Amino acid sequence: MSLFNTLLAPAISLAPRALIRKVSRRYIAGDTVAEATERVAALNAAGFCATVDVLGESTESLSQADHTTGEYLQVLEAIARDGLRANISVKPTALGLLLDATHCEHNLARLLNAAEAHSIFVRIDMEDASCTQHEIDLLLRLKRRGYNNVGLVLQAYLKRTDGDIAPLLGTGENLRICKGIYVEKPDLLVEGALDDRGAINPHFLRHVARCFDSGTFVGVATHDEALVDQVITLARSRLVAQTAFEFQMLLGVRESLRDRLLTEGYAVRIYVPYGKDWYGYSMRRIKENPRMAGYLLRALLTC
Ligand code: FDA
Repeated sequence: MSLFNTLLAPAISLAPRALIRKVSRRYIAGDTVAEATERVAALNAAGFCATVDVLGESTESLSQADHTTGEYLQVLEAIARDGLRANISVKPTALGLLLDATHCEHNLARLLNAAEAHSIFVRIDMEDASCTQHEIDLLLRLKRRGYNNVGLVLQAYLKRTDGDIAPLLGTGENLRICKGIYVEKPDLLVEGALDDRGAINPHFLRHVARCFDSGTFVGVATHDEALVDQVITLARSRLVAQTAFEFQMLLGVRESLRDRLLTEGYAVRIYVPYGKDWYGYSMRRIKENPRMAGYLLRALLTC
């Protein structure tokens, strides 16, 4: 992480709300379900699939968790009503994981039932390392209950992912692999990851290869073009069908790369966050990970 980003992070925290709003517009669809579905419809028209994320992580009460669940139910209804090519991504802590795991599972099951009725997939985002085992256990419990329209995210920057991935592989399974966004204790991370995001790439690639080999559908979530190219080379060398994986990118990030992939015939899914918590989300991202400060400044200079 550069000194530039480390110094910039607190400074950006002091930036006027209007400035953060301006920058975040590129990355966040808006405040409402209608704004999110409008953005998704435009992405669909341009050839992309989408994943809708309702912003808000630090849930302080079960009623707040239930409210978020209700918001996601509206999103599912809107996706089905408008015939959008979209699914949803959910953070278990937003559904109450750290308050009451059983209640969180109940909320997720409500979403899975509603999604299943419309053949919509539900992705469980992976949060910080204190949640990793809880979120794997949650997924496995839901699988045992017979839900098939659900899949987890694994983070290539964690050493433990080599072991975590094993029970999640198989035909009909669906994983997202990402590098990982949270600031974690160095001993949890693969070698070099603390100072060099490129050091995560061989691990990322190994997890993708295991998905390919086991027939697991894999969402390759990265904006790192070198890594994207390595995934393409790997898929070609193993004769993996283009329908066996998709690239996933965040709204507003590296749009030239997403366009290139679409032109080359790959499926590309765009992660579309929306919600009233846009300010909290933006600021949390900056505080949790000073690297985001650099991204925000770059975005500001180019908007
Ligand atoms: P890397 O960090 O090496 O960045 C490569 C380049 O991409 C950078 O140089 C920069 O230019 C650009 N870039 C990356 N992120 C950017 C941003 N936000 N704004 C502007 N430019 C950016 N993490 C997690 O822990 N749990 C999860 O569930 C998810 N889910 C998820 C879904 C999707 C669809 C994506 C794309 C990402 C996630 N992530 C995530 C975040 C992920 O772990 C990772 O932190 C970011 O994608 C950045 O890492 P890259 O792989 O892009 O590489």
